[in-house]
Amino acid sequence: MLTLAIETSCDETSCAVLKDGREVLSNIISSQIEIHKEYGGVVPEIASRKHIESINPIVQESLDKAGVTFQDIDIVGVTQGPGLVGALLIGISTGKALAYALDIPLIGVNHIEGHICANYIEHKDLKPPFTCLIVSGGHSYLVQVNDYTEYELVGRTIDDAAGEAFDKVARSLGLPYPGGPHIDRLAKEGNKDAIDFPRIMLEKGSYNFSFSGLKTAVLNYLNQMNQKDEEIIIEDVAASFQQAILDVLVEKTFRLAKERGSDKIAFAGGVASNEGLRQAMKKRGQEEGIKIYHPSRVLCTDNAAMIGSSAYYNYKSGQKSDLGLKVKPNLGL
Ligand code: KG4
Ligand code: ZN
Repeated sequence: MLTLAIETSCDETSCAVLKDGREVLSNIISSQIEIHKEYGGVVPEIASRKHIESINPIVQESLDKAGVTFQDIDIVGVTQGPGLVGALLIGISTGKALAYALDIPLIGVNHIEGHICANYIEHKDLKPPFTCLIVSGGHSYLVQVNDYTEYELVGRTIDDAAGEAFDKVARSLGLPYPGGPHIDRLAKEGNKDAIDFPRIMLEKGSYNFSFSGLKTAVLNYLNQMNQKDEEIIIEDVAASFQQAILDVLVEKTFRLAKERGSDKIAFAGGVASNEGLRQAMKKRGQEEGIKIYHPSRVLCTDNAAMIGSSAYYNYKSGQKSDLGLKVKPNLGL
């Protein structure tokens, strides 16, 4: 079964062709980062306009790269939400037009479920149940994946998303947008024990996250150092900040896995590219006897292949959308 998938929830226009939900025949990603960089973040209006310009050529490119034609496609999967309303609309309209013209099923996909499904693409042995941490620019979720389409939301951020915290701290350090990869790079050269930033665990037993206090602690530290005219070692700030976030993410994920008896943990989303997070998860996994999965970098950040995988499993479980499918900018899990 061939799935054509479309993702336009934020600033990546992406289209992919998948065979049976786990084999990627093509995954074309057109990033708008260079355009939004100038503004220090994604400008929704510009993102929508760029999606309109890019979507048709990218759909065609994904078919060409996969070596197939429209007539070979069996289902169309498209991100329904969460995301920017104008950006989502471009993808959904395209998906509807294709499903209607080709007379094939349309499947609306939850972007967060897509991030989770990114793990199936390269790890053929990964099957539910497992524990999953999703950390991206817009979301931080702790989920127990009971089946391919059954997700139990156990924790979420009560303020900033993890990637947002990376981006905001990076900005205060004068680093370009998106800041996550820059912090990751600088952290490797810094001392993670140099500054004692808070590990915000919230109330006992809570699986929720809060990152805004940590962000404020970094800002306060920078202000104090500036006031005292003392030298700021940017690598140490990056390493100490990153470690404070990672300690909380790793601790809560493993606590959930152990509570549920999971022998597998997956993590996903843009922040899953983080080298420090990958190493910390791997090390703890070895200590606890829990197998760790994460997608390769290109499948961590937004892409249509992950949407195609999720669409396939939704379709297999009998879910189908109709042409009245609406965008859901605030869709949760
Ligand atoms: O999943 P994604 O592409 O978009 C959303 O759905 O939000 O994630 C983008 C986020 C940005 O905040 C970016 O700074 C962060 O992922 N990110 C990283 C790294 N690479 C991307 N954060 C930390 N370390 C990285 N290496
Ligand atoms: Zn995303």
